[in-house]
Amino acid sequence: MKIKSLVIQDVGGISSLKLENLNPHLNIICGENGIGKTNIIESISACFTIYSPNELKKKADSNSGLIELNMTDINEGFKKIEYIVDVFYPREFNDNNTNYRTLYKFWENYSKFLMYFKADRFFSYQRIDSLKIHDDIEQHTKNNLKGVSRNNLKDWFIRNELLSKQAYTEDVNKKNIGYAKEFITLLNSNYSFSSIKQDMEIYINSPTGEIPYEYLSSGFKSCLFIMWGIIREIQIRFPNIEAKNFNGVIIIDEIELHLHPEWQNKICNVLKRAFPNTQFIVTTHSPHVIQTAEHNQVIALEGINGILNKKDLESARNGFSGWSIEEILTDVMGMRDLRTEWYRLTLSKFNTALDEENVESAKAIFSELETRLHPQSTELTLFRFQLKALTGE
Ligand SMILES: Nc1ncnc2c1ncn2[C@@H]1O[C@H](COP(=O)(O)OP(=O)(O)OP(=O)(O)O)[C@@H](O)[C@H]1O
Ligand SMILES: [Mg+2]
Repeated sequence: MKIKSLVIQDVGGISSLKLENLNPHLNIICGENGIGKTNIIESISACFTIYSPNELKKKADSNSGLIELNMTDINEGFKKIEYIVDVFYPREFNDNNTNYRTLYKFWENYSKFLMYFKADRFFSYQRIDSLKIHDDIEQHTKNNLKGVSRNNLKDWFIRNELLSKQAYTEDVNKKNIGYAKEFITLLNSNYSFSSIKQDMEIYINSPTGEIPYEYLSSGFKSCLFIMWGIIREIQIRFPNIEAKNFNGVIIIDEIELHLHPEWQNKICNVLKRAFPNTQFIVTTHSPHVIQTAEHNQVIALEGINGILNKKDLESARNGFSGWSIEEILTDVMGMRDLRTEWYRLTLSKFNTALDEENVESAKAIFSELETRLHPQSTELTLFRFQLKALTGE
């Protein structure tokens, strides 16, 4: 299943937005705080949610909200969903045959193809006293808008790791838990799964010793939650499918959360490689995430009062891998000024001193610039030349 296009009218803070030709592999949504990124991904999730009483809100002052979503199913069949968002009647479905059975059938067939990871991904220590035998499948497939749950993730890993030692365990389950373990090393080659010990803790080999997995850093845990979360969801929703063959949609809010820039640069590629048939729709505030993207994978939002547009990024038609972080910040993310107020003021004073041929003042300002700018700054070299030209020294 892949999402092809989306129209949103009067949902949350969005008055209008049309997104066409979504990329089948990766879509990175960016834009300033409050522009409506989370509204967009929750609008998509809502279309694949069976129980969501009033979780998605129509825009204040409007009569009702509308989400129109076009998608292809796994057989490349084309489907259109119209979802009316309203405080009293949270949804409606329009497929020329709007009876409840058709509606329910649609959700039953398709909601399991979508997963949503909310921005809150921190997890802390959880003691395991006993292992649950089964996960509640309905909870996982029918409430996409709530986001993938962190509950019982540890329980899931321990149970599957222990079961994978048994001859009767299905191959597909052995492979999936194998992927879950490999991810630890994929995330950082200095780390690896060690064992489950008698205390029912998951132990990880790390450069600073063998540690329970909850001791891992926030960035590591945030990634692990996504990776293990995806594998667990696939295993529960499609018991016969190997995780890497999942053919659905995974939505992740603020994908760069807790990650060092080096990892922000890698995360999308790691996900795409691990789940090559999946369509990812992610939001970000990180230029490093955008830097690895192709031209048609970035949805940069702009607009005012909820009337949103996708920015024209034709100048990056060959992707962003050759763009600097500064160029992405200004041209894609709309940052107006990359320098501080102090820098702009000092530079302006320096230029005035040069114009007025005020040697003393120019020297004093240059000294200040010299103490604060990066030692290898090319601007500093330029300022030094300008000062020399003035003083003749
Ligand atoms: N029902 C509503 N009616 C009108 N405006 C709303 C409604 N619900 C939310 N908003 C507005 O929509 C915006 C929230 O949008 P959203 O959370 O999608 O932003 P975002 O782009 O994800 O921001 P951030 O980067 O901070 O996460 C806010 O500016 C909020 O004031
Ligand atoms: Mg948000």
